Amino acid sequence: MHIIGINGSPRKERSNTRFLLEQALESAEEKMNALCIDGTTMLIDLVDYEIRHCTGCDACVRKKPCPESAKDDMDKLEELVLAADGIIIGAPSYFTTVPGVLKDFIDRSRTMKMRDNQLRDRVFGAITFAGLRYGGQEVVVDYLNRYALAHGMIVVGSLGSPITDGIAGAGSLQTDEGSWRSSKKDTLAIAWSRLLGERVADIASRLGGSGE
Ligand SMILES: Cc1cc2nc3c(=O)[nH]c(=O)nc-3n(C[C@H](O)[C@H](O)[C@H](O)COP(=O)(O)O)c2cc1C
Repeated sequence: MHIIGINGSPRKERSNTRFLLEQALESAEEKMNALCIDGTTMLIDLVDYEIRHCTGCDACVRKKPCPESAKDDMDKLEELVLAADGIIIGAPSYFTTVPGVLKDFIDRSRTMKMRDNQLRDRVFGAITFAGLRYGGQEVVVDYLNRYALAHGMIVVGSLGSPITDGIAGAGSLQTDEGSWRSSKKDTLAIAWSRLLGERVADIASRLGGSGE
């Protein structure tokens, strides 16, 4: 079984979202080990790949190769994504939606949709982090979940106590007291991300794998 995390932040080393994704993938690995499943995880930083904008040419609708894919890394990314049984996308809130690098990936992923729903049945989870306590986290999670549903993926949340484990979109640099901390100190965001990783692994294992 293979679970991937896609980091939609244009940052890497200093990315708070990436840290939460790492937590989710670590927990997914632990779950696969506990279930005695031969499993692997991989974290993909979209910023490492060239992704050109969708031009709206509709070649994918006519089942023709995307002309932009001849010029960028999208074919490589598709291969990585299609191999996954579980997909977790992490995105920071950028003006209460996802950063451009992720939106480009999302738009270009239409080719996989048009090729008879290639991403169907992947188990999907969303992680977000924002600067402000109420900075659009829920909008980002809602958007990512709707994106996954459009591809026929199986969207899951985490199980756990909302009091001790948080809820989707709890992560923020800003604390309730108005001070600032990184996601490494955001205990609720960490707990929730770990539970999400566990849940993605659990459901993907029960489905028996859908990756290519
Ligand atoms: C262009 C831009 C727009 C942003 N918009 C928001 C926003 O709408 N709400 C918010 O709470 N934080 C916003 N932020 C702050 C980021 O969400 C925050 O810095 C987050 O930690 C970035 O994620 P990363 O650390 O994974 O890169 C914005 C940051 C940038 C660069």
